[in-house]
Parts: sequence; C-alpha cells; structure tokens
Amino acid sequence: MNRPPISETLDPRQWHLAIRVTTMPADTNAYGDIFGGWLMSQADIAGSTVAIQVAQGRIATVAVKEFRFVAPVLVGDLVNLYARLVRVGRSSITVEVEAWAQREPDPTSTHRVATATFTYVAVSPDGRPRPVNIAGTTEL
Ligand SMILES: CC(C)(COP(=O)(O)OP(=O)(O)OC[C@H]1O[C@@H](n2cnc3c(N)ncnc32)[C@H](O)[C@@H]1OP(=O)(O)O)[C@@H](O)C(=O)NCCC(=O)NCCS
Repeated sequence: MNRPPISETLDPRQWHLAIRVTTMPADTNAYGDIFGGWLMSQADIAGSTVAIQVAQGRIATVAVKEFRFVAPVLVGDLVNLYARLVRVGRSSITVEVEAWAQREPDPTSTHRVATATFTYVAVSPDGRPRPVNIAGTTEL
C-alpha cells in the first residue's frame, strides 16, 4: 500500500500522521464547503493523540492558539492531520497540528488547509491539573 504523502515542509522525525478522514456531505456548512468547526474538532482530536501519549492518561484541551484556515476543504477531500509535540510544561502539553487535503483529480498532491496550536492539560480523575511525568513519556 502507498504511504500517505507528507509535505516536504513537515519533518517526518517530528511530525506524525494522527488522523486520515474523508469529508462527507454531513460535514458541510450552508454554502456546501466543509464547516470550519468540523475541521477544528478533527484537529483537536489529532493533537490530543500526542498529548494523551505524553500525559499517559486523561487530558483536557485548555487553549487553542492561532487556528488558521489556509484554504477551503471540499466534500470528498481526504484530510490528513499531522501533529507535532512542541512543549511540555508542569501539567500542560502543547501540540502543533497541520491539516493537508488530497483531492481529485490529482490525489497524489496535497494542499495545506489549516494550522493550529493546541494546549492540553493532564488532569486527574476529578478534572484537576496533575504533573506530567516526562520520564514516563512514550516516544512519539
Ligand atoms: C484544564 C483545566 C483543568 C486547567 O485548570 P486550571 O485551574 O486553569 O489550571 P492551571 O491554571 O493550574 O493551569 C494548568 C496548566 O495549563 C496552562 N494554561 C492554562 N490556561 C492556558 C492558556 N490559556 N493557554 C496556554 N496554557 C494555559 C497553565 O500555564 C498550566 O501549565 P503548566 O502546569 O505546564 O505550567 C481547567 O481550565 C478546565 O477544566 N478547563 C476546561 C477544559 C475542557 O473542558 N476542555 C474541553 C472544552 S469542550
């Protein structure tokens, strides 16, 4: 099977493919393009895959910085969401996410459609911040 394409701008030593998803008509806005909120939720999920590994458990999204919609996403696009660990604080984990779309009639090329930076907090079962144990971090 062909590996999904990755932009030359993303260093595969830092970035990993967190999610691949095909957009559906149910994900559109009133104008027929993909709803920005749908893409934001996918990006949050993609970033959380990194944060959960680092936190080794429950996390909550505390902030989103600079969510940028670079280009429209269309129905039928295959959206690849890449994530990269940026920073680990006491209880916070910051992850950068980029979304790249593959589209007919040339699905071999990819277009960057969104970028964002998410901050997550490792939380205890009662939802309070807990320290991240870096020594227990899984290799990404
Ligand atoms: C996440 C939550 C538990 C944090 O609780 P809190 O009392 O604000 O915690 P703190 O002030 O101690 O901050 C915890 C960490 O988050 C970081 N943080 C808090 N607000 C931040 C922001 N706006 N941007 C970046 N980092 C932030 C702090 O710097 C701290 O990092 P550190 O421990 O690495 O130094 C609490 O805000 C919460 O439950 N929020 C709702 C989360 C949620 O439901 N998300 C889904 C929305 S649908």
